[in-house]
Amino acid sequence: MTTLPPLVLAVVVLLVAPAVAAAAYPPAATGGSLLSLTRYARMFAFGNSLTDTGNGAIFPLTAGGTFMQPPYGETYFGYPNGRASDGRLVIDFLAQQLKVPLPTPYLAGTTAADFLNGTNFAVGGATALDSEFLANLGIQTAVPISFSNQTSWFNNVLRLLSTSGYEQRRIMARSVFFVGEMGFNDYTVALVTKPVDDVASLVPHVIGTIRSALTAMIGAGARTVVVTGMLPIGCEPSQLALFPGEPGDYDPASGCNARLNELAAQHNRALRRMLWELGLRYPGRSLHYAGMYSPVMALVTSPAANGFGDTPLAACCGGGDNPYNFDYAYFCGTPLSTACADPSKYVSWDGIHYTEAAYKFIADSVLKGLLSVQEPAGSQQASGDEKLATI
Ligand SMILES: *[C@@H]1O[C@H](CO)[C@@H](O)[C@H](O)[C@H]1NC(C)=O
Ligand SMILES: *[C@@H]1O[C@H](CO)[C@@H](O)[C@H](O)[C@H]1NC(C)=O
Repeated sequence: MTTLPPLVLAVVVLLVAPAVAAAAYPPAATGGSLLSLTRYARMFAFGNSLTDTGNGAIFPLTAGGTFMQPPYGETYFGYPNGRASDGRLVIDFLAQQLKVPLPTPYLAGTTAADFLNGTNFAVGGATALDSEFLANLGIQTAVPISFSNQTSWFNNVLRLLSTSGYEQRRIMARSVFFVGEMGFNDYTVALVTKPVDDVASLVPHVIGTIRSALTAMIGAGARTVVVTGMLPIGCEPSQLALFPGEPGDYDPASGCNARLNELAAQHNRALRRMLWELGLRYPGRSLHYAGMYSPVMALVTSPAANGFGDTPLAACCGGGDNPYNFDYAYFCGTPLSTACADPSKYVSWDGIHYTEAAYKFIADSVLKGLLSVQEPAGSQQASGDEKLATI
């Protein structure tokens, strides 16, 4: 298999993944397996500002940032709460659907009781790769938190929850691990000073880092892991406004920068291939790919059909003299910025992060994907919850 060219392998992965899943995971109805748990006890989450529910608001370097100013949080929580959106994120919708408590932001807790309901290690601005690694390539990160930092925070929590190896493995097995999108910040900080083709050389490093983190989780006993893919970077209002491409760089159907989207697609192909290989290496574990790229593309190419307005590439909150409504001088939450009247009609909230409406659309798409891959043959009568419980 390993001698197949990557593209062929990617196609093979796509075609056989459901079959592998069906063969590797016994149907929940047979019972006895860990996958027959009716419910997860908690969620452990990792990631950046797409998943951060309060760490960046506490981390000294980013505390008091623009995301802690109105109108952040206006749609759902009613006040700025650490989420970089007008409302809830994918993790919020996912926790609700999986019937697990909302995990405590790591920096907001100190005791085992604080973390027993789950922990969110995601920090706004976090990169997949270590800051020192990126610095050695001349890439300066804004927030020096990497996936390996979050993994060591996780190890602290696990030790706090129990010092017994047996008990730790029980905790791991009963938890769902949600890895939010990782790599966006690595690529976008690199894009400030480097051409896309150079930035693409980071992809294998980013995927290798995610792989190491997943291997550590699985090694410690994680059985259910959901890993989020890359968003279409070339549809981000911030990228479109800050880095105009050549005329031929734009996808006619969406108006997105096709070269930046190809970088994201390359990341996603490598991520899916890596997950597939890990799945073969660790049979009996439930490893899932949660795609963001397709749902966001659906929103930007067919906004009206999905209930969104006609400017899917413009930020709701921001300002500036360009069609993307993005300019750092008018960044959402700063005094000169203004917000749209109805964020539910916008895909992008602030030019970088999505609106609650877009996150809900993405979460629904992710959940549908998890269900369709996981549904065991011959169990069509199972209710949504039972199917969910097997992931
Ligand atoms: C944990 O979650 C349960 C159920 O949602 C809740 O009753 C309890 O207060 C939570 N505990 C902590 C420490 O957050
Ligand atoms: C993150 O990891 C690096 C490298 O191990 C370490 O130097 C740094 O102190 C860590 N940062 C935090 C906040 O834990």
